[in-house]
Amino acid sequence: MDNRPIGIFDSGVGGLTVAKQVMKVLKNENIVYFGDTARLPYGSKSKETVTRFSKQIVRFLLTKNVKAIIIACNTASANSLEELRKTFDVPIFGVVVPGASEAVKATKNKKVGIIGTLGTVRTGEYKKLICEADSSIQVFSKACPLFVPLVEEGWTNTEITKLTAKEYLGELLKEGIDSLVLGCTHYPLLKRCIGDIVGENVKLVDPAKETAITVKNFLIDNNMINDGKEDKNHIFYVSDYTEQFDVLCEKALKKVYKPQVIDIESY
Ligand code: DGL
Repeated sequence: MDNRPIGIFDSGVGGLTVAKQVMKVLKNENIVYFGDTARLPYGSKSKETVTRFSKQIVRFLLTKNVKAIIIACNTASANSLEELRKTFDVPIFGVVVPGASEAVKATKNKKVGIIGTLGTVRTGEYKKLICEADSSIQVFSKACPLFVPLVEEGWTNTEITKLTAKEYLGELLKEGIDSLVLGCTHYPLLKRCIGDIVGENVKLVDPAKETAITVKNFLIDNNMINDGKEDKNHIFYVSDYTEQFDVLCEKALKKVYKPQVIDIESY
């Protein structure tokens, strides 16, 4: 047994959708969440910058005595997981590996769509992992940078969002995909809108759920599960606080957790 918390980090508030799945699948675990709200978006930044930011965050989370770390951010997972694993002596999980493996399981016609930020799509990481698992699968990727600001505006199912989704997803649909990976923390909040556009024959894959299951299996295999005897205590940190955090926290977790602000540049 290991009752230390699990660290989860993201470029901002989108990672709360991953925290939600972790809370669901790992009911006894405590979470220390960090959202880099002062420096987002990560999706438009270089690999070097995203990796530098991610290293600072891991250093910060290690001061909170975490037993494992989940990179909730797809962009940071795709760009920095390998480097973080090389640098730090703590189990670190990204969302891209579990998301890719779920997509391989989901597709029947072997045509998979990937949507994410520019920074995620640029790495080709989802495509690489899916093709390594099954080289007969065709992968079609599309960066959808406007989705993040639309979600942050609270426009999860407005006419503008529907039109944007239609524009972005049209070319993937033309390719005949039967599965679509929601490769960005914010996209699960657009599930209804995206689902309406792609129709019920396209399966939406949310990497967060599979990530939570992967971490659960790891904790069980290594006898690191929380025994649940102490009261649960989730703690949230951000690098900049605005009411936007409360709004998205309420949306993703159905509860408002007040975050503490920390100076991430000092780590
Ligand atoms: N969290 C990022 C991701 O999942 C989206 C927001 C951003 O660009 O920072 O890729």
